[in-house]
Amino acid sequence: MTIYGTRPEAIKVAPVIKAIEKADDLESIVVVTGQHREMLDQVNTMFGIIPDHDLNIMSAGQSLNGIVAKVISGVDRILELEQPDAVIVQGDTSTVMGAAVAAFNRQIPVIHLEAGLRSGNIDSPFPEEANRKLTSQITKLHLAPTETSKANLVHESISENDIVVTGNSVIDTLLYATKLEVEFSDERLQKLQEQRNTEGGVGRVLLVTAHRRENLGAAMADIGNAVADLARKYDDLTIVFPVHLNPKVREAALPPLEGLPNVIVTEPMAYAEFTKTLSLVDIVLTDSGGVQEEAPSLGKPVLVMRENTERPEAVLAGTVKLIGTRRERIVDEVSLLLDSEQAYAAMAYAVNPYGDGVAANRTVEAINWKFAGGLRPLDFGV
Ligand code: UD1
Ligand code: UDP
Repeated sequence: MTIYGTRPEAIKVAPVIKAIEKADDLESIVVVTGQHREMLDQVNTMFGIIPDHDLNIMSAGQSLNGIVAKVISGVDRILELEQPDAVIVQGDTSTVMGAAVAAFNRQIPVIHLEAGLRSGNIDSPFPEEANRKLTSQITKLHLAPTETSKANLVHESISENDIVVTGNSVIDTLLYATKLEVEFSDERLQKLQEQRNTEGGVGRVLLVTAHRRENLGAAMADIGNAVADLARKYDDLTIVFPVHLNPKVREAALPPLEGLPNVIVTEPMAYAEFTKTLSLVDIVLTDSGGVQEEAPSLGKPVLVMRENTERPEAVLAGTVKLIGTRRERIVDEVSLLLDSEQAYAAMAYAVNPYGDGVAANRTVEAINWKFAGGLRPLDFGV
C-alpha cells in the first residue's frame, strides 16, 4: 500500500506505483491523504493514477497537528479495512510521518523511500527534518537515494542490512517527463518556448519557486522584493514564477511583482510543463527540495534560498549554491551569474548524483528481497 499526500510525494511515487503494478507477485493499493488537493491531483492525472482511497483532508490554513491527526485516524481506518502486507511512504511531509506511525502501531512494516536525508538541524527544514528522523525510527526497509543518505542512517545505528541505495525516483519521473512534447497552457510560456527555440529569440530566463514554511512571512517578502529588484535591474531578463497555492506564499511574495512586464507569474504548473520550463531557463532560484534534485540533471545552476540542505551532493558537485533569503544577497548572487560568464560556466554543467532513472525498479527488487526472498539488488552507483 503506497500512501502519499503532496505534490512532491506524488511525483516521486508515480514510477514506483507503475513498477509495482507491473510486478507479477505484488498487488498495489494506492491511498492519498489529500494533504494537497489541486497540486496532488495534477500529478495523479498526468500519470493516470486513480487512488483506491482518498482521505481528502486538506483545509485552508491547515496546522501541522491538524494534518497529522487526520492522517493517523484516516489511514488507520484504511489499514484495518485493507490489511496490507507493507506500507510505502516517500520523503518527509506530515503525511509521511503520520502514515508511518499509523502503520507501525498496527505492526505493518514500513518501507521508506528517500530515506536518510539529513540537514543536521532539527529545526530546519521544519518540520521535515524531524519527520524524516521519526519515520526512520519505525521503518523496516530504508531506500536511500545516495551513499551519503545511507551513511546518515548507518550513523544513526540503522543496520546496513535494512538499507538499499536505490537512487531517487524523481530522476525516473524527470527522464520520462522531459521526453514529452509540451504545449503550455499559459500562452506567455508557449511563446517563451517558441522564442527559445529560435536562435537569439529571447534574453536570459530565471525560474523561481518558493514555499518552505520557515520562509513564510518576512523571508518570503524578501524573496518577492529580490525578484522585483532583478526584474528592474535587467530588462533583458524574463522571470518565470509558478506560485505555490499556499495563500501565505502569495500574500508575501506577489505584491512587489505587480506590474513588472518581464515577470511571468503563473499558477502551479503541470509537471511536464514545469520540467520543460526547467530545461529552457538559464538559472533556477528556489527553496524546493525536488527542484534541487532535478535542475542539476538538466545542467542548470541552482541558487537555493535556504541556510542549509539535506541534499549536499549537488552542492559538492558545484552546481547548487546555498544563498539564504536576504534580499541583497539574492540580487547579488543572481547578478553574478548573469554578469560573469565564468561564474555561470562554473555552475552550469549536468550532474546526476541523485539517480540514474531506474530507482523504481530497484525499489521493487528491494521489496522482493526484503519481504519475499528475492535477490538483493545492487546499490545505485555500484
Ligand atoms: C508541504 C510539506 C512540505 C513540502 C510541500 C510541497 C509538510 C509539513 N510540509 O508544505 O514538506 O515541501 O508541502 O509543496 O508536510 N494548498 C492548496 N492546494 C494545494 C496545495 C496547497 O490550496 O493543492 C494550500 C492550502 O491552503 C494549504 C496550504 O496550501 O492549507 C499549505 O499546504 P501544506 O501542505 O500545509 O504546505 P506545507 O506544510 O507548507
Ligand atoms: N513542480 C511542478 N510544478 C510547479 C513547481 C514545481 O510540478 O509549478 C515540481 C518540481 O518539478 C518538483 C516538485 O514539484 O518535482 C517540487 O515540489 P515542491 O517544491 O512543492 O516541494 P519540495 O520538493 O520542496 O518538497
